[in-house]
Amino acid sequence: MSRKQDSKAIWIVGASSGIGEALFRKIDAPGVTVFISARNSAALESLAQSAKGEVVALPLDITDQRSVQHAADEITNQVGHIDQVIVNAGTCEYINSDKVDMGAMRRVMDTNFWGALNIINASLPLLRAFLRNKPGGQPQLAIMSSSVTYQPLPRAGAYGASKAALRYFAESLKLDLQHEGIDIRVISPGFVKTPLTDKNDFDMPFMIDADEAAERIVNGLSSRRFDVHFPSRFTRILKMISLLPDRIRFKLVGKASRHTDTGNTDTVHTHDA
Ligand SMILES: NC(=O)c1ccc[n+]([C@@H]2O[C@H](COP(=O)([O-])OP(=O)(O)OC[C@H]3O[C@@H](n4cnc5c(N)ncnc54)[C@H](OP(=O)(O)O)[C@@H]3O)[C@@H](O)[C@H]2O)c1
Repeated sequence: MSRKQDSKAIWIVGASSGIGEALFRKIDAPGVTVFISARNSAALESLAQSAKGEVVALPLDITDQRSVQHAADEITNQVGHIDQVIVNAGTCEYINSDKVDMGAMRRVMDTNFWGALNIINASLPLLRAFLRNKPGGQPQLAIMSSSVTYQPLPRAGAYGASKAALRYFAESLKLDLQHEGIDIRVISPGFVKTPLTDKNDFDMPFMIDADEAAERIVNGLSSRRFDVHFPSRFTRILKMISLLPDRIRFKLVGKASRHTDTGNTDTVHTHDA
């Protein structure tokens, strides 16, 4: 067995910036082979060049099933299985609600839901190969949702629906696969400062930086918690609001609704948690 096949193999999808890049920097170490994916191949190559351990850049677009399968085949060829997959890639568009913006809905669902499913589908054979190659070990599939799924927020219909669908899918998959020994987790951050949230023009309470988010994720994924959520001072508030009577919680959360002074009814494209 080669050194690469012997080492721990981790696939971070959505590693070119923000939380994924910070995760890579935390995970990258001698003895670990990290496969990093995203569309921006130049960013991946520059990360690979600064790596301490083995790093393989596998550029792909998660909405393109063929490019995803090509990357998974490359992992099979190089190491034969995967210990951990972190399905982190995602996007966000906030919408106004005077009409349903089907374009925005489709773009966000294509990446955050269908794209994530492409990765999950391509990962399952690699995770099952781990179970065959390393009996007694447990491979892990970590899926990036969002704390926005605890309590719907204004203008978050596209983003929140995509992340809620992903959470439901992940929980259902966990029930279906738990007998196989694949460890499935969900990650639910609050606001994290990244290129995604840099585009926002509203208050983002309890925002943390990407390094802190990566630290929380790595620690959370090595604990036994199914839902790795943080910062708890924010996620607990959302969870508590979600338990209030409907009339009160809609009034409370509705106050956070942003009104544009232009009266523009077009979709507002921003990125957010
Ligand atoms: N920041 C927050 O407050 C926050 C909160 C909760 C959850 N999240 C979630 O955390 C994840 C990472 O977000 P971030 O804040 O770190 O934002 P980011 O810096 O914009 O990172 C998004 C990552 O996803 C990749 N990506 C997007 N579309 C892709 C596609 N079609 N194919 C392949 N890769 C794609 C991007 O790479 P390329 O552009 O190079 O493809 C990038 O690496 C997302 O799923 C986001 O929804 C973020």
